[in-house]
Amino acid sequence: MFLFPLPMTPVLKWAGGKSQLLPAIKSLLPTQYEHYYEPFIGGAAVLLSIVPQRATINDINSQLVNLYRQLQNSPEDIIEYVNAMDAVNCDKDYYLGMRERYNHKIASQKLDLECAALMIWINKHCFNGLYRVNSKGLFNVPYNNKTKGKSIDEENIRAIGAYLKKAGVKITCSDFEEACQDVKQNDFVYFDSPYVPESKTADFTAYAKDGFGMAEHERLAQLFKKLDRIGAKLMLSNNDVDLVRELYYDYKFTHLDVKRMINCDATKRVGKEVIITNY
Ligand SMILES: C[S@@+](CC[C@H](N)C(=O)[O-])C[C@H]1O[C@@H](n2cnc3c(N)ncnc32)[C@H](O)[C@@H]1O
Repeated sequence: MFLFPLPMTPVLKWAGGKSQLLPAIKSLLPTQYEHYYEPFIGGAAVLLSIVPQRATINDINSQLVNLYRQLQNSPEDIIEYVNAMDAVNCDKDYYLGMRERYNHKIASQKLDLECAALMIWINKHCFNGLYRVNSKGLFNVPYNNKTKGKSIDEENIRAIGAYLKKAGVKITCSDFEEACQDVKQNDFVYFDSPYVPESKTADFTAYAKDGFGMAEHERLAQLFKKLDRIGAKLMLSNNDVDLVRELYYDYKFTHLDVKRMINCDATKRVGKEVIITNY
């Protein structure tokens, strides 16, 4: 593990962010492993907390992957871009203009520094820090009425950039199966896919253009079994629901009560989750 003077925290608020589960996840980590893989990196709360020396991170969301690549190579430029965006007092029109600019980047697949900075800025100015795209893949979350204030913690950005660079973290943008193709015996993989819905009406699959349905959950369980046979150490988090209990019945379950942040109905802000390990 690298020792950094500052504890690093996620740059983005991200649905399914693992900050709350971190103590449980850390208490269940394997004591020793070679290479760390996180094929559904999202907000990167786990990576930034355990700071592994050798790591591969992946996500299917190409704007998110671009953000980590830009952080790795040009943290100072990101700070400059976001500070310039913060220098203008925000109102609804300014927000919508920035969102349109970001959507141009998505539509043209322009994965550059400005796209990364826009992603950070919009995450701080959109409703509930949600990341939701429409059927065309365009970002459509409304404004949260934040008018001024900083959208980044500069020291945190520098620390993350330094870590990603120093550790030479490999950053890929592909489906989770492809992202795990080099996993070997004694490597450690943490899977935090979009969750199986808690109830039949709930839908938490809108992270990226393609949803994550039953077929993907079955494919993920097959991959888990395959990597288990190879001798990799595996951890997976999900909702504590029948489908998950069935798919992973061979493995070790740790049951947890959690508070739900992204739910408009305050009465539904508690839930039950599981951490599954093969060791
Ligand atoms: C629950 S979030 C991960 C949350 C993360 N652990 C955190 O702390 O913020 C799931 C992530 O999986 C990504 N994803 C969805 N389908 C995928 C796929 N087929 N392959 C790889 N990543 C995928 C989404 O873009 C999203 O970032």
